[in-house]
Parts: sequence; C-alpha cells; structure tokens
Amino acid sequence: MDYFKKILRFAIPYRRYGLLNVFFNILYALFSALSFAALIPMLDVLFDKAKKVYVAPTYNGFGSLKNYLQDYLNFKVTAFSGNDEMKGLLLVIGLVLILFLFKNIFNYLAMYFITFLRNGVLKDVRNAMYQKIVDLPLSYYSEKRKGDVIARISSDVLEIQYSFLSILELIVREPLTIIFTISVMFIISVKLTLFVFIFIPIAGMIISRIGKSLKKNSDKVQKEQGEFLSILEETLGGLRVIKAFNAESKFYNTFQNSTARFFKFSNSLLNRQNLASPVGEFLGILVIGVLLWFGGKMVLIDKTLGASEFIAYMGLAYNILTPAKQISKALYGVKKGNSAAERILEVLETKNPISEKHDARIKTDFTSGIELKNVSFKYEDEYVLQNFNLYVPKGQTVALVGQSGSGKSTIANLVTRFYDINEGEITIDETNIKDLTKKSLRDLIGLVTQDSILFNDTVKKNIGLGKDGASDEEIEAAAKIANAHDFIMELPMGYDTNIGDSGNKLSGGQKQRLSIARAVLKNPPVMIMDEATSALDTESERLVQDALEKMMRNRTSIVIAHRLSTIQNADKIVVLQKGKIVEQGSHLELLKTSGVYKNLVDMQTLGVI
Ligand SMILES: Nc1ncnc2c1ncn2[C@@H]1O[C@H](COP(=O)(O)OP(=O)(O)OP(=O)(O)O)[C@@H](O)[C@H]1O
Ligand SMILES: [Mg+2]
Repeated sequence: MDYFKKILRFAIPYRRYGLLNVFFNILYALFSALSFAALIPMLDVLFDKAKKVYVAPTYNGFGSLKNYLQDYLNFKVTAFSGNDEMKGLLLVIGLVLILFLFKNIFNYLAMYFITFLRNGVLKDVRNAMYQKIVDLPLSYYSEKRKGDVIARISSDVLEIQYSFLSILELIVREPLTIIFTISVMFIISVKLTLFVFIFIPIAGMIISRIGKSLKKNSDKVQKEQGEFLSILEETLGGLRVIKAFNAESKFYNTFQNSTARFFKFSNSLLNRQNLASPVGEFLGILVIGVLLWFGGKMVLIDKTLGASEFIAYMGLAYNILTPAKQISKALYGVKKGNSAAERILEVLETKNPISEKHDARIKTDFTSGIELKNVSFKYEDEYVLQNFNLYVPKGQTVALVGQSGSGKSTIANLVTRFYDINEGEITIDETNIKDLTKKSLRDLIGLVTQDSILFNDTVKKNIGLGKDGASDEEIEAAAKIANAHDFIMELPMGYDTNIGDSGNKLSGGQKQRLSIARAVLKNPPVMIMDEATSALDTESERLVQDALEKMMRNRTSIVIAHRLSTIQNADKIVVLQKGKIVEQGSHLELLKTSGVYKNLVDMQTLGVI
C-alpha cells in the first residue's frame, strides 16, 4: 500500500473528478438499495396484500419508519389508482423502473468522471517516467535492460491506472452500497439482519487469505514482462546479425523460455485472482441459505415478516453479494497495483548521480580553452583513464589516436558529462564543468558520435535536431558543408524522405554525413568528433573526411580519429595507450620521433589496418 500511496499524489490534479465520482457513487449506492426496497409495494399489489390508505400517514420517529414509508406509499397508490388494481400495479412498476434508471444513470456518471482521473494519472505518470528516463545518465542503462524500462512505463503504468478504479470502488462505492443496503435490510427486519453481521467478518477473513500471495506473484509476472520486452527489443535491433549467424533458433529458445516462465507465473496469478469471485459468491450464497431458513421460519411460522418483504429482503441480501465480490477483487487489484507502483517509483525515485548544483551557472561563451586536469575515471572497477591531462586551446584541433579500447570515446563521454570523473577536474575557460548547468555545457559542444545515431524520421527532422526552429535554408547549408546535400537530393523525397529505423535506409557513409550535418547546424564553439571505425569506400571516405575538415575549420575541436589521414593537419596529436598519453605533438614532429604514432601511420599506409 505504501508505494501506491505515493502514486496517489499523481491523482491530486484530478481530485475534482474523484470527488464527482464519490458523489455519484453515493447516489448510486442509495438508489441501488432503494430499487430493491421498491419491490415490496409491487409484490404487495401482485399478492393483493396492498392496504388501501385513504388518509396521509403521520411520521412518528425512526422506530416506525418502515410502517410510515409503507403507509405513505400505499396512500399515494390508493390516491392514484382508486380501486383499479392494474393502475396500482402500473404505478409501482413505474416506480421500480425509475429507481433502476436513476441507479444506472448515477453509475454511469460515476464511471464517467473517474475515467478522467484514471487516464489523467496514466498520462502524468508516463510523462514523469519519460522525463526521468531521458534525464537519467547513460550509465543507468548499462545496468538496466531497456525492455525492463519499457515494461515499467507501459504495462506497470496500466496496472496503476486499473488499480485507481479498484481503490475508489474499494473505499467508496461498494462499502456504501453495502451500508445502504444493510440499512434498508435493517428497516425491514432487524433480527434477520443481525445474522448477516455474523457472517461478514468470517467471509472477509477467508477472502483476504487468498490475496496474501498475490503481490509476490504479480511481481514475478511484471519482471518477466520486462525480460520479454528486452529480448524483443534486442531481437529487432539485431535482426541483421541474428539472420546472418543463423541464430534464429537460439533467440527463439531464449524467447520461449521467457514466455514459458510468463505462462507459469501468470497462470498462478490469474488462478488465484479468479478464485476471488467464486469463493466470494459461494460464501454469499451460504449466508443467503441461512437467511432463507430463518427468514422462511419468520414468514411461515412466526408470521413476523410479510412474504413480499421477505422476497425484497432476499433481493437486498443478494445485492450485497456483488459489492462484497467487488471488494475482494478490488483488494487484489490494489495489491497488484502496489507492486506495479513499486516498480514505477523505483525509476521515478532513482537519484541522478550526475547532478546539477543548485547554483549551477549558465555559460554561453567560450573564450580560452578546455582542460582535463589529472583526470582519473573508471566505468566499473578498472580505471580507464588515470591522471590524464589534456589542454585544448580555443581555435585549435586536438586529435586523439590510439588502439581500440584505449579510452578515446571515454574522453568524449567525460567532457560532455555523460559520466562524472572520479578524480581531477575538467574545466572550460577555467570553470569546472560541474559548476555549469548540463544544458549550457552541452549547448557549447557539438558531438558526432562513433556510431551515427539517427531517428526514424525525415532527413530534415534528423538534421534539424541540431537547432530549434532551423529554417530549410539553414538545414540545406549544413547538409552542404557535410557533403550530404547531393545524396539527399537523390533520395525519393529529398529532405522529406523518411530514413527508416535508426536510419537503416541509408549507407554507413551517408549516415555519418547526416550526423555531421546535424552538428554543423548546431554550430557550437567546441566540436567533439568520434570518427566511425567502420571502413568506408574511398569515395565515401573522401566525402566524409572533407566534411569533417570543413567542420573543424575555425573551430575548437577534439577529434577522435581512426583514419590517420583525417588529422594530419591537427595542431596537436595525442597518442593514447591504455588510458595514458604516450606521445604528443604535430604530425611531422611525431613522425620524426619514430614512436607509436609513426608505427600506426606506417601500418595504415601499408594497409595493415
Ligand atoms: N559503458 C561502459 N561500461 C563499462 N566499461 C566501458 C564502457 N564503455 C567503455 N568501457 C571500457 O572502457 C575502455 C575504453 O573504452 P573507449 O570506448 O573509451 O575506447 P576507445 O578508445 O574509444 O576504443 P575504439 O577505438 O574501439 O572506439 C574499454 O576497455 C571498454 O571496455
Ligand atoms: Mg571509441
């Protein structure tokens, strides 16, 4: 329940609808009890037991309420119908119909208003989750599987939405229906109603027993749902490899294992849940059995209860069965909702380790340079960078080269503050990047990632991501600098062509040039380029390289290069090995020293790499 309570705050903006729901539920419960009570005069007319009352009765206090009501109704009926029995019957039937009509109208209105609350909560929880998901650092997702997050934002939130209905049914509607119904039952016969009270707690105990293990089962089901979505997500993402390596059956097996587990868990969950209503109903009918015995005795032998009253009474008793069943179902709903709430709150309450200081500054200019001072960093246990120092003065291009895994992309991750360093500091114009807002830091930096990340949208939208409200001309100009304009014009719809999921309708080189165009459009003072490792054909490589050079011109750049030809003109080349700088200098200087760099260049010219 605790988790669910926390989710309740999402209902606050919609409390108006909640109150309206409560209001109409009260009316519903009232009319639902009255509609059964109205059967009494109808039955009386049918059995020819209706008293003719010609004088309006007087009210003599609560004790004789039953008689007063009966007399009053009979008085009205008598006045309306005189001696015509069919007319009397028509009147009481009309009464019953009207009461039932109102009961159902109020029922609908209650449901109508609660819908806004439920769907509003669904919407707001999803929005809050999405914001959190985008805000959380990349490291969060190295540990969590994406499918799990997707399951939380989709099915867990739905579960919450469902539980909100349950909770209102639980606290307002069904208890009220029971209270009103029992009140009417009391008015009809106090003695008989006391019997009912003996049975209610017993039934409640049995039902709550069944609910106990429900949360555990529901947890398992939801977790498996996440697993299942993860597999699905990975399968779709890696379909090309799965097919190429004939790994379909392997993945199918993993998937089947997951669905088999889901089958097992949800069977036991549903079966337990399904137990609720038959058990509830049977317990109810047991109570009715007892009532029939005692009530029957009162009618037949003691003559303390009229037959029509008894029939209406049994209707009422049956009328509390449904809410009783609903309450037990709602209890389970809330239990399930609670476990979903726990999973949602786990995401919502995750603290972002890459936090912003409350007095974080906004920096819009870039004047002197970027510096990494004694930086040490580890993703997990092993240091990737140790005591790393690098200075990138404004206007210069610094290139990072080195073998795979030496920590080049890591540097890009740190300067953009995707990860926080463990020791040392990173400064921009002597200001620690931790003192800046993340937005203003990232506004200063353009990033071309190692693997081109594109979205399932048009060329225009993909480039336009770089700048809010960019005009078509600006987008085209950026594409021209990135050498992308020509191939874009050849696409079926030009800039409005959809490039497919992750841009998979484009070639590798085309994707790279689009992501370069995106960074060019942003036009930031600092550019970080993580050159793609994938080999391109010579023509495409020349185009990409040319695009990179144009982009670096007159800009401060950190270039992570695999093709050494890209960086011959760099002001400084830094050679990394296992997170440490082993050499640095210009292309010519490094060639002279005949060290690691020269070796790399020789190997590339010989075509070894
Ligand atoms: N998210 C991560 N979690 C844990 N370890 C990581 C993560 N990303 C990278 N590493 C590790 O950090 C080291 C440096 O990785 P990095 O991506 O910086 O290499 P790189 O120099 O860019 O290599 P490449 O030339 O292949 O792109 C590697 O040993 C890698 O295993
Ligand atoms: Mg890399």
